[in-house]
Amino acid sequence: MARIGQLGCFIKYGNPGEYRQKEHMIKPLIRSALERFLAGRGYRLVANNYFNWPLRDAEFMEIFQRQARFVWKDTSGPKIQRMYMVRNLLLSTKGLNGDWAECGVFKGSTSLIMAEYNRRYKLLQPGFNMHLFDSFEGLTDPAPADAGTNMVKGDYLGTEDEVKHNLAEYDFIVYHRGWIPDRFPDVADRKFSFVHIDVDFYEPVRDSLDFFLPRMVNGGVVVLDDYGCAQTPGALLAADEMAVRYGCHIGGLPFGQAVIVVRDRIE
Ligand SMILES: C[S@@+](CC[C@H](N)C(=O)[O-])C[C@H]1O[C@@H](n2cnc3c(N)ncnc32)[C@H](O)[C@@H]1O
Repeated sequence: MARIGQLGCFIKYGNPGEYRQKEHMIKPLIRSALERFLAGRGYRLVANNYFNWPLRDAEFMEIFQRQARFVWKDTSGPKIQRMYMVRNLLLSTKGLNGDWAECGVFKGSTSLIMAEYNRRYKLLQPGFNMHLFDSFEGLTDPAPADAGTNMVKGDYLGTEDEVKHNLAEYDFIVYHRGWIPDRFPDVADRKFSFVHIDVDFYEPVRDSLDFFLPRMVNGGVVVLDDYGCAQTPGALLAADEMAVRYGCHIGGLPFGQAVIVVRDRIE
């Protein structure tokens, strides 16, 4: 794929000022012509002049390859970038006194990333655990607020046995099988420093935020996997509603996730 930033190199003018002035006029024209040309052939331009963090991080790639044995293998799409963002935000919570949770586990990929970083860096303080919530039957039926999604009931099915097998080496994981929010009372008296919510549809995203936001410690982080995804409009709606209810700021991230850093909740 051509790098649009390089096209200017082929256009020469009398002096640098003139060059810059004309480059500003010509670049957008070339870009839009190129975009139209590529779009007609099923391609789109992507910026490739940025540091690709996950691919340059040998430790992360080693951990990513472990989960690739059972799910996500693509190293060029958004999933690897999202997992790397989970890794970054998770590391930032080291030292906080709280449990972790993942709502929506599938085969255990992001859970594995979280668990392995904990094993290596002792991020969870003594006495705290990582709680996994899942139906282990795939997605629920979409609600009216999910209109427009292309996902259906039963998608992303990972069985409890599979996940337990994939995460067998981590003894700090606690499983809560059931439809969200039915098993949340299991941890009603706990507080949390990191929560990853990846349940795609309006109702479980709403119920997860409604439960966890008031239980986050100061500086705790909630990552929403589906916030900016065109296929999951209900997740965005639910998150925006809960952010208003709890007075939180939601920060959209480049690969469709969002982050909430929780302040002034529990001391
Ligand atoms: C997209 S997958 C999660 C992907 C996973 N976080 C990963 O990184 O590979 C969605 C998961 O949410 C679970 N899920 C969706 N709605 C649920 C609900 N209402 N209650 C419990 N689990 C649910 C599904 O069973 C599925 O495992």
